[in-house]
Amino acid sequence: MDNSIYFSKYEKYLKRVEDWLKQNFKVYECPEKVIYESMHYSLMAGGKRIRPVLSLAVAEMLSGDLDTVLPFACAIEMIHNYSLIHDDLPCMDDDDFRRGKPTNHKVFGEAIAVLAGDGLLNMAFETLLKEVARSHENSHLKAKAALLIAEAAGIKGMIGGQVLDMESENKTIGYDRLCDMHRKKTGALIKSSILAPAVLLGASSDTENALKIYADKIGLAFQIKDDILDYEGNSEIVGKPTGSDEKNRKSTFVTLLGMEEAKKLLEATVRQAKKVIEPFNNAEFLIKTAYYIAERDK
Ligand code: IPE
Ligand code: IPE
Ligand code: MG
Ligand code: MG
Ligand code: MG
Repeated sequence: MDNSIYFSKYEKYLKRVEDWLKQNFKVYECPEKVIYESMHYSLMAGGKRIRPVLSLAVAEMLSGDLDTVLPFACAIEMIHNYSLIHDDLPCMDDDDFRRGKPTNHKVFGEAIAVLAGDGLLNMAFETLLKEVARSHENSHLKAKAALLIAEAAGIKGMIGGQVLDMESENKTIGYDRLCDMHRKKTGALIKSSILAPAVLLGASSDTENALKIYADKIGLAFQIKDDILDYEGNSEIVGKPTGSDEKNRKSTFVTLLGMEEAKKLLEATVRQAKKVIEPFNNAEFLIKTAYYIAERDK
């Protein structure tokens, strides 16, 4: 798949996500309006939307209905945005910019930023449960997909990974611990965006197993690249301050392996992702996404 076809497909998925979010999240006139504004500010700030895009791409690969998957995909994007609001807080990474704009707490203050994160997390589960409660049809599969997302966001997934990240500041940790941390803090949610549609659409166990390995690889690759961009990215393009990891004395692949080895590991991980998904029909978008993750400049 060449770049122009890839990016036009990406745009197509992105538009479905943006439209769904716009339709389903509106700022209301009410005394607590600021919480809507704060949630809206981060959710609509122009992220790459890689997680929901992946969900829609998997749905299409499985010849499934994109509308069935969209609320699940967007719930994951809400969880992702909550995690970023909290990640940027002074008590965590203390960062002032994200997606080229001041971070949530810089605009709304810390208390509202904490609550906006809580609000987005809760809204994600309202969205998921609404789907489960909508009808009896496939309610078991919808509940299974929702549970999978909940676990990915929780202490065995993203939250657990963020704890490892905070606990690893000012320390040298080993390779295995670092992989575990990356798989949890970033990999788990990305993985859920690939497996939730597989569950919803009743993918065969062969397909699901291949998607699991693919997701594991690109989830890890995504955070290795994030670490690399923190060191050598252009902060204007990345949209967030580079050097944040160094400032916080974080444990990253760049600090552990050095830049050259981190890049080699990234390439190897992407190749493994490609290899496992290649034999499947209609997997071109997913293959290209693995490369996009490694090559992206933001
Ligand atoms: C950044 O995620 C934080 C990580 C989990 C690595 P993204 O790079 O997906 O951020 P946006 O949503 O595109 O801004
Ligand atoms: C954050 O990792 C992962 C999350 C779960 C939010 P980072 O702290 O490296 O993410 P950025 O670089 O601030 O986006
Ligand atoms: Mg962090
Ligand atoms: Mg951070
Ligand atoms: Mg980072």
